[in-house]
Amino acid sequence: MSTAIGSVTLAEPVILAPMSGVTDLPFRRLVSAMAPGWSVSEMIASQAMIRQTRQSMTMAANTPEEFPMAVQLAGCEPPVMAEAARLNADRGAAIIDINFGCPVKKVVGGHAGSALMRDEAQAARILEAVVQAVDLPVTLKMRTGWDAQNRNAPRLARIAEECGIRMVTVHGRTRCQFYDGSADWKFVREIKEAVSIPVIVNGDVVTLEDARAALDLSGADGVMIGRGAYGRPWFVNQVIRYLRTGERLPDPSLTEQRETVLMHYDAMLTHYGVSVGSRVARKHIGWYSKGLPGSAEFSRLGQPHRRSGAGGGGDPRILRAARGGGMMAGVVRVQNGAGDAPLEMGAVLAALPDPIVVVDAHDRMRYANAAAEQFFETSALSLTTASLGDFLRWTAHYSRSSNRCARRDTASRNMA
Ligand SMILES: Cc1cc2nc3c(=O)[nH]c(=O)nc-3n(C[C@H](O)[C@H](O)[C@H](O)COP(=O)(O)O)c2cc1C
Repeated sequence: MSTAIGSVTLAEPVILAPMSGVTDLPFRRLVSAMAPGWSVSEMIASQAMIRQTRQSMTMAANTPEEFPMAVQLAGCEPPVMAEAARLNADRGAAIIDINFGCPVKKVVGGHAGSALMRDEAQAARILEAVVQAVDLPVTLKMRTGWDAQNRNAPRLARIAEECGIRMVTVHGRTRCQFYDGSADWKFVREIKEAVSIPVIVNGDVVTLEDARAALDLSGADGVMIGRGAYGRPWFVNQVIRYLRTGERLPDPSLTEQRETVLMHYDAMLTHYGVSVGSRVARKHIGWYSKGLPGSAEFSRLGQPHRRSGAGGGGDPRILRAARGGGMMAGVVRVQNGAGDAPLEMGAVLAALPDPIVVVDAHDRMRYANAAAEQFFETSALSLTTASLGDFLRWTAHYSRSSNRCARRDTASRNMA
C-alpha cells in the first residue's frame, strides 16, 4: 500500500517517529537500511535553524540512503519557520514536517509545539507561510488537542488541509496528558474523516498487533512508531512485513543484534565525535541490552564515571558487553583486527584523556592508551595480554571497591 504525499510517495505505511535525542542520523540510517520508508529528523527549533547553529545543522543532516527524509521544524513565527524550511529544502530535505505536538514546557512556553493547537489562527499563518516558502510537500504532526475538553485536532486538520498541508500525523494523546494514559487510536478516526489528505496514527505501537489495531480503529493510512523502536531498529521492518503479509519476522539472532549494536555504536562516534557519541550511545546500548541476561550489570558498567583527582582518568569506558552469548565487552571496536583502522585510531585514542581499551572483532584486546596505562598502573602490554573476561571482572571489581590503592594492587596482580 503506497500513499502519495504531494510529489513524494510513501512506499510503506510505517514511519519512524521523530524523537529528540533518539532518531538522529545514525539511528535513522540503521532503520532505513532495514526498512524501506520514511524517516523524520528530530525536532529542530526554527530560530536555531536560521542561525545555522552547529547543533541544528547536525540534526538536519541527511544522507541519500534515507530518502525521502523529512526535517521537522518547530517555532511560532511564520517568517522564521518559512526561512528555516527554505534552508532545509536547499540542503536536501524531501519533506518539511511542522511540529504542533511537542508538550515540553520550554517549547510550549515559547508558543510553539502543542501550544499552537490552542491558537488556530496563528497555526494557520505558520502553515501557510511554510507551504508557500517551499516546493516540497509540507506535513504536520500534532496531538489530539490541548486537553480533554479541547480535542480540536479534527478542526485543525481541516485548517491544515486548506493551507496546503499534505499529510497529518496524530499522536493520540492531548498535550496535558504528556505520555500518561494510552493513545486514543479511535479518536484519530475523527481526524481521518475530517480531511481527504493522508492521516497517520501514532502512539503506543509496540507490538505487531498494536500496529494492526491502531490502523483498524483509526482508519488511518499509516502508522508511526516511536518508543517501540527503542533498541529494536528492526521493529519498523517487522511491522511493515506483518501489515503487508501477516508474516511475523523473528527478531535478529543475538549475533546479528551484536553486529547492529556495534555498527550503530561506530556510527554514533563518527557522527558526534568520541566524547558526545559515547554519551549518546549509552542510552541506546541500555535499550539494546534490556531483557538480555546480565543487562542490569551491563548498564551499570556503561554509566558515566566520575573523574578522580589524583592520577588522572576515570574508570575505563566499558561501553558494550554481552551476556550469555559469549560476546564481548570493550570500548572501541576495530573492524579487521590488525588492519588499518586500529593504527589510524591509535593516534586519536592515544590523545584522549580517558582510559581506553580497544578490542577487535575476535574479542582480543589490541590496544590500551596512555591514560589506561596510568589508570591501571600497568603497561599497555600487560593490559593487552590479559583475557577480556579477566579484564571485565577486574574492572567491575575496580569500580565497586572504595580503596583505590588496593584496587590498583589487585588490578596489577590480575593483569600481570
Ligand atoms: C524521547 C522522545 C523524544 C521525542 N521527540 C519528538 C520530536 O522531536 N518531535 C515530535 O514530533 N515528537 C517527538 N516525540 C513524540 C514521538 O514522536 C511520538 O509522537 C510519541 O512518542 C508517541 O509515540 P510512541 O508511543 O510510538 O512513542 C518524542 C518522544 C519521545 C519519547
